[in-house]
Amino acid sequence: MSEDFGPALMARLDEFAAFTDEPGVLTRFYLSPAHRRAADCLIGWMEEAGMTARLDAAGNVVGRYEGAQPGAPALLLGSHIDTIRNAGKYDGNYGVLAALAAVEALHRAGTRLPFAIEIVGFGDEEGVRFPVTMTGSRALAGRLDPAVLKLCDAEGVSIAEALTGFGGDPAALEGCARRPEELLAYVELHIEQGPVLEAAGLPAGIVTAINGASRFEVTLSGQSGHAGTVPMVLRRDAVAAAAEMILAIERLALETPDLVATVGRVSAQPGVVNVVPGGASFTIDLRSPSDAVRDAATGRLTEALGAIGERRRIGVVLRRTHDAAATACAPFLVTQLEAATRRAEVPVQRLPSGAGHDAMVIAALAPVGMLFLRCRDGLSHHPDESITAEDAGLGVRILLDFLRHFRLPGR
Ligand code: HGY
Ligand code: MN
Ligand code: MN
Repeated sequence: MSEDFGPALMARLDEFAAFTDEPGVLTRFYLSPAHRRAADCLIGWMEEAGMTARLDAAGNVVGRYEGAQPGAPALLLGSHIDTIRNAGKYDGNYGVLAALAAVEALHRAGTRLPFAIEIVGFGDEEGVRFPVTMTGSRALAGRLDPAVLKLCDAEGVSIAEALTGFGGDPAALEGCARRPEELLAYVELHIEQGPVLEAAGLPAGIVTAINGASRFEVTLSGQSGHAGTVPMVLRRDAVAAAAEMILAIERLALETPDLVATVGRVSAQPGVVNVVPGGASFTIDLRSPSDAVRDAATGRLTEALGAIGERRRIGVVLRRTHDAAATACAPFLVTQLEAATRRAEVPVQRLPSGAGHDAMVIAALAPVGMLFLRCRDGLSHHPDESITAEDAGLGVRILLDFLRHFRLPGR
């Protein structure tokens, strides 16, 4: 009878979800007090599992479980422990704690594999506090642009200041970078955040590729004025211009196959009821499995927003804040994750990821693979995000079996 990891893992996920910056909901932004408390707790759990564990200069938690030969290259596992605002408990956090449950099982059995296992709790996959994302995984991949350290959150706190206050070290970020020869591969467990597995009646699926993503911040400048006295035809209303632009963005995505576009945040300046808003800003999130489609859409958006701005005499600044190419998972990892899934007597289903993941960045460093877990109604980025204890435990069993059978190609 194989071990049932589910109940203990679900209890730990509940415990972990208590590390929040907003009582009553789960909000754990990068480098926040709750992020630090969660990181410290994770380090403690890793040490209890026979791992060495530390916080790296970028605020990632990095734990290591040695193989039969100390110092051997590592198979990297993990996901992110930061969350969006009012998040579900499982996006990111499930992947980290499921990997930890697998290492705990190896430790309890006194098993040492022919390779080391490292688990990373990335600190900034969501990219919702600062206007940049994947900061933790970019640091680990040696691809973090130091210029981002100057970027500030809504309170004007820079990443450098927040990192220092958190216990990281802006001056030592280069030291986070891992060398390719240190890592065999990166495998991430994650909830699907979509409806495909549930619709197929399957608890788990193997990811083939991760959609590419671009993020933009749009800043509009018109003319503020008295809401009661400025004639409509003389107005340069930035919010009305934003509204027309947002509908144009939606229309483009509806008309373009394989493209999704989201305007997630909109703001008006000065943002009071009786003033014609002279300023407005909004974000754009573009995703596609095809980089060519996403790039073409970026060009068409730029033209459309410029034309609307010109006609309305509104200044338009479009700033790209994130770009990640579509990322293929390594075929040998897809094959080995499929084999482990079959051995768990789960029919194999391959699927792409519409959501972004740290694996997109780590792919620069090592071959990547992902195993998706079904989530109820495909709901995510929502407090009602839900998985079953049975599926949660199955994910650990498949991962553990994958680890026990892992081979590099040709070995
Ligand atoms: O936005 C994403 O796709 C991820 O959940 N951060
Ligand atoms: Mn995630
Ligand atoms: Mn997410």
